[in-house]
Amino acid sequence: MPANELLMNEEMNLFSPVQLGAYNLPNRMVMAPMTRLRAFEGIPQLLMAEYYSQRASAGLIVTECTMVSPLSNGYIDCPGIYNSEQINGWKQITKAVHAKDGKVFLQLWHSGRVAHPALLNGELPVAPSAIAGIGQLHTPVGKVDLATPRALETHEIPEIVEQFRTCAKNAEIAGFDGIELHGAFGYLIDQFLQDGSNQRTDEYGGSIENRARFLLEIVEAVTSVWGGNKIGIKLSPSNTFYGMKDSNPQATFSYVIDALNPFKLAYIHLMEPNEVDLATGEVLNPVTPLFRPIYQGTIITNGGYDKEKGNAILASGNAELVSFGKLFLANPDLPQRFELDAALNELNPRTFYGRGKEDAEKGYTDYPFFNPQLIAV
Ligand SMILES: Cc1cc2nc3c(=O)[nH]c(=O)nc-3n(C[C@H](O)[C@H](O)[C@H](O)COP(=O)(O)O)c2cc1C
Repeated sequence: MPANELLMNEEMNLFSPVQLGAYNLPNRMVMAPMTRLRAFEGIPQLLMAEYYSQRASAGLIVTECTMVSPLSNGYIDCPGIYNSEQINGWKQITKAVHAKDGKVFLQLWHSGRVAHPALLNGELPVAPSAIAGIGQLHTPVGKVDLATPRALETHEIPEIVEQFRTCAKNAEIAGFDGIELHGAFGYLIDQFLQDGSNQRTDEYGGSIENRARFLLEIVEAVTSVWGGNKIGIKLSPSNTFYGMKDSNPQATFSYVIDALNPFKLAYIHLMEPNEVDLATGEVLNPVTPLFRPIYQGTIITNGGYDKEKGNAILASGNAELVSFGKLFLANPDLPQRFELDAALNELNPRTFYGRGKEDAEKGYTDYPFFNPQLIAV
């Protein structure tokens, strides 16, 4: 639906239905992608089917980031979708979400330099350039600094684009409703976009057009599988995690977002920064209103929203949907709670990420549903 048509809808709020690409959704509340590290050895588990289906009242669920190849790994026990065991594991999840009338997109991901040989069978991580990100990771040999990656040879890049195409097909086989490309947060696609991590001198580096080539080739590959209207992409234009930086982020992301227009994707998913850069203290401006005039399709905005802020941005016309991360993590029935103005569960950051099979359900599938009978007392 064109943005200007939506602007005229004064009734628009988190609970109003919306057309998102190929689908009519009952509300505008999206569950943001969240890595939870309970896919043991990369294989999606039945417990994950319970977790996602508990949250099926979201207008759309976007899954945790999912590996497109063994070399795309950045975390212990994050899922993949590059082999049949993984595809079969995901089938349990899509079936469970569909049984509750939910919709679910798979987030496809390559970690690039946010990795370490200890997670990659001794291989060096790959990236646009041999520049290490800043940060640490848990690995089988303990907590380590991000490794200095090796720069991809030009001839290796089409192979990675093909991995995205194959995994987009695998997502279809697994029963997903669509896919989201992870172009945010300092992972491989983002590493190509920003000149702090991309110092290449071939056709994938240098000018903004060249740095955007990898992303656009992947978009072209996955739209050949799904068509644009079942594909989204997440971008985080002012993200500085893992040492990300760009000499002119506004110019870079304006170009990228404009270049996405012709693909008529289901959506772009824009992640807002923290209000203040945690490293430098610099005040960061919201990105959604900045890029709204450039993007002709649907925008999902993300980052720090609650019910009030979510309704406000929808009313402003700067976005058509809002995604909620931590609030959905702690409240499986978030739409109902918002509708009833019910209290929210307390979030436990200590159980964000799984640590092996023992107690995997703690802080995962055991957040309670709201009990309306409790307010009658
Ligand atoms: C535990 C956790 C895991 C996350 N994993 C991912 C991920 O796999 N992919 C992604 O794009 N963003 C990931 N994020 C970021 C969220 O999608 C979202 O952008 C962020 O939490 C801000 O939204 P919120 O303020 O509503 O929580 C993660 C966030 C959390 C809290």
